[in-house]
Formats: sequence, structure tokens, C-alpha cells
Amino acid sequence: METLQCIHARRSIRRYTNEPIKEEDIETILSAAFSAPSAHNLHPIEFIVLKDRNNLVQLASKLTYGRSLNEAQVAICVVGDTNRQDNWEFLNHDAAAATQNMALAITDLGLSSVWIGCTPSYENMKDVHIELNLPDHIKCLSILAIGYPAVTKEANDRFEHLKIHKEKW
Ligand SMILES: Cc1cc2nc3c(=O)[nH]c(=O)nc-3n(C[C@H](O)[C@H](O)[C@H](O)COP(=O)(O)O)c2cc1C
Repeated sequence: METLQCIHARRSIRRYTNEPIKEEDIETILSAAFSAPSAHNLHPIEFIVLKDRNNLVQLASKLTYGRSLNEAQVAICVVGDTNRQDNWEFLNHDAAAATQNMALAITDLGLSSVWIGCTPSYENMKDVHIELNLPDHIKCLSILAIGYPAVTKEANDRFEHLKIHKEKW
């Protein structure tokens, strides 16, 4: 798929079929994540790949907006190492860049995903950290639920001229 076509075709899909995802596709998705830019070239982002149905359902139960994990074939949790990057904003920016790279790779492979946001201000993040067995210095920053789409959505076109400012606000 052409890059620009892929960017517009990506939509949040929350219903998936039972078709399993090939191991090589998971590798391709992760490889896209590792190619994301990183503040100060520190690369503090790591990944937890979940395929076990019990673990996916358990994780879903800890997240207010994570129901899509119940049907997902795979989840990739994007976690940040606060020892490697102590600037919280940059850690999150790195995680977002990796997450979006994966979402685009997923679309290119004919798969679908939804980005599940994680932030420490969510009460239940403590439970997510326990569920993933994370040490204190590793924070879960986002999760992608992934599967073959059981529903389709149109490519998005949200261009808004009024949101584009020239030279100054
Ligand atoms: C930072 C972030 C957090 C999000 N968190 C969730 C979430 O917890 N659960 C969910 O179902 N969708 C979540 N989404 C997906 C948005 O709801 C979705 O991107 C938005 O509705 C636009 O639809 P589209 O992705 O199909 O273009 C999140 C997206 C972003 C960027």
C-alpha cells in the first residue's frame, strides 16, 4: 500500500475475526515500531506481546476503554523505561511515535487495530502494571489491540482549513 493511502486508510477497529496473526507479521509490526524517532536518540521504549486469550481478557478487565482486547488476536503493550528517559513528556512522545508506526504497519498488512491510551492518572493503571508484571521503572504508555477486521470503516478525511494558521496564530 502507498504510504499516504495507508495513513488515510487507518481507522480504529474494535471488532476482530478469529483468524490468527502470523508470527512474521508481528515481527514486521515490531520492526516498524523500532524505526520510530526517539528524543535524544535514547530509544527507551520496549514492547510486551500478548497472544494468550486468558491474558488478553484479563488485561481488558483492567481497562475502562479496553474492551477490544477481548476479541483481539494480539495485543502489543508499549512500555517506557524511565531509567533510560527521565523526561516524562519525551517518553510519551517516543511511545506515541512507536504506536503510530505500528498502527500504520498493521494497516499495510491488511490487519486492524485500536490504540488504547494509558496514563498514570487512570486509577486502574496500577492494576495494568501488576497484570503485566512491570518493575517500577517501566511504565505502560499505550496498548494496541490487533486482529483481522470484523467490520470495515471508510478512510478518514478530516482536513480542516480553519485549523491551519499561516506564519502566526
Ligand atoms: C492517545 C489515544 C488514546 C486512545 N484511547 C483509546 C481507548 O482507550 N480505547 C479505544 O477504544 N480507543 C482509543 N483511542 C482511539 C480513538 O478513539 C480514535 O483514534 C478516534 O475515535 C478517531 O478514530 P479513528 O482512529 O478511526 O480515526 C485512542 C486514541 C489515541 C490517539
